Amino acid sequence: MAKLKVGVLISGRGSNLAALIEAAGAADYPAEITCVVSNKADAPGLGIAAAAGIPTTLVSHRDHPDRESFDRAVSTELERHGVGLVVLAGFMRIFSPWFPARWADRLINIHPSLLPAFKGMHVQRQALDAGVRVSGCTAHLVTPDLDSGPIIAQAAVPVLAGDTEESLSARILRQEHRLYPLVVRWFAEGRVNISGGKVMVQGIACDATLLFSPQP
Ligand code: GRF
Repeated sequence: MAKLKVGVLISGRGSNLAALIEAAGAADYPAEITCVVSNKADAPGLGIAAAAGIPTTLVSHRDHPDRESFDRAVSTELERHGVGLVVLAGFMRIFSPWFPARWADRLINIHPSLLPAFKGMHVQRQALDAGVRVSGCTAHLVTPDLDSGPIIAQAAVPVLAGDTEESLSARILRQEHRLYPLVVRWFAEGRVNISGGKVMVQGIACDATLLFSPQP
């Protein structure tokens, strides 16, 4: 069967991109990354993609007069590579409403908290400040409202006494790297059904979508 073509949008480090590239390296993985688009010329993730032989494109928001024209330029790149699923991996640009409408139900993000708790920036700091005992990451569909689209899957980690923003971020990130390739696999296998603003993952037991970290 033809593999699902995935376009990954990045702005920075690219560790989730690296996890996806590693997963897609397995012969039986049902998705392939056909392009990586960055809005930042100095995103280290661009080097990760290039080293894996994946075509990269820089689309700078500075070259576009408004959000929608930037979004349309990104979209043209994705279309050029035949993309069927758009994966945000540390992409730090807010879209105009046009982009999530264009890619409705085929646009996903990973966020380092258990949504709907802690939206926006510095969410691990927000989690520590709130004193929660459990945090984690959420893979969700992207809608025009920031960090508010239907939840696909979550992975939870404990928050430990003495945690810093860095230690909690690192613990969550390890789960992001497990969860995101799994979620992309579900899309490629046609398991993800979206109805009434809710996501059902067929053939996956409900509790299997909440993956507790085996280690702190
Ligand atoms: C991750 O923490 C992700 O949850 C958030 O941005 C960060 C991206 O990290 N959306 P990386 O670029 O994938 O290393």
